[in-house]
Amino acid sequence: MSFDGTAVQNAIYMGGAEWPITPGDWESRAEAALEPEAFGYIAGGAGGELTMRANREAFERHRLRPRMLTGNSERDLSVEVLGTRSAAPFFLAPIGVLSIAHPEGELACARAAAATGIPFILSSAASHSIEEIAEAMGDAPRWFQLYWINDRDVAASFVDRAAGAGFGAIFLSGQGCAQYFTDPVFLPRLEKPPEEDLLAAAATMLSTFPNLGLTWDDLEWLRGQVDLPLLVKGVLTGEDAARARDCGVDGIIVSNHGGRQVDGAVAALDAYVEVREALGSDATVLVDGGIRTGADVLKAMALGVDAVLLGRPYAYGLAVGGQAGVEAVLRQLLAETDITLALLGGRTARDLDETFVAG
Ligand code: FNR
Repeated sequence: MSFDGTAVQNAIYMGGAEWPITPGDWESRAEAALEPEAFGYIAGGAGGELTMRANREAFERHRLRPRMLTGNSERDLSVEVLGTRSAAPFFLAPIGVLSIAHPEGELACARAAAATGIPFILSSAASHSIEEIAEAMGDAPRWFQLYWINDRDVAASFVDRAAGAGFGAIFLSGQGCAQYFTDPVFLPRLEKPPEEDLLAAAATMLSTFPNLGLTWDDLEWLRGQVDLPLLVKGVLTGEDAARARDCGVDGIIVSNHGGRQVDGAVAALDAYVEVREALGSDATVLVDGGIRTGADVLKAMALGVDAVLLGRPYAYGLAVGGQAGVEAVLRQLLAETDITLALLGGRTARDLDETFVAG
């Protein structure tokens, strides 16, 4: 396709393919590429999508305060969070069942993450196993997200496998079957293996969800099981963040899971500000929900986050172009974050502070 008119505005030539540019264009292209149910699974939020919209509104409400003449021709976007390095201040959020967007699912995303130096967070509800992802990524950085099911032995087995497969941190959050159907503790619970009776295997897996009986005591138990850094995802208040810290977790991911759980819950960025106030500047705190542009990434950094997670945008990249599509999304966001940092007068994403943001 030649570059002219709207194509110039809406596409960028990268890696031999023509990709969309704006977050809205990526979403539209993903919608065109997917069956309506698959697109709805990724794009949708809970209820009337109030919280999903609030996530965006909070980023729009905050504004950057650019500085002039700072001599910042050399810049550094990299961050290190609990021993995990990233080329930029964003990680790939855990998204379950990515095979809905593309047959290569999490494998394609893991490879794109490795190619760009961005850490990948594997969901418990993935379509590819912990070990397959480890093999695809080599030494590239990765974390594992543990759904805390109501079976401690299977949960502990997931944690052991992740540690054995080179995942740098574990975090909890609170469907793909691959982790279950490859798990040495889960499989003996089945009368017949999944390939002989898929329905029964899936029913046994589903019976471990949800786990509403969990309490803070369980978190202390898990802390004792895990040698790797442990983070909790889904914290939305200062009180819960302080409680989690007191249980010995290493970090907090402030998240309403992209507005997919409690419709009407507080916006992620607003909750982050409350959590940071409660924990102080030394705590490791990440945030996700509604991050779409380089300016969003830098607004969060200016408010003191250690890093942000990127959700739907990379799932749209996967739907549009598999591994190459995810890489294009990540490289675009990297480039946009860098140019925004340049124009903002910053030298490193890490050193931005609240004087760079208003709102
Ligand atoms: C998610 N999210 C999620 N979170 C998690 O901890 N485990 C999971 O398996 C999933 N699965 C999942 C599926 C889909 C389709 C989406 C869109 C999201 C939530 C995810 O990690 C992250 O919190 C949000 O996606 C961040 O919001 P944005 O960037 O999508 O607005």
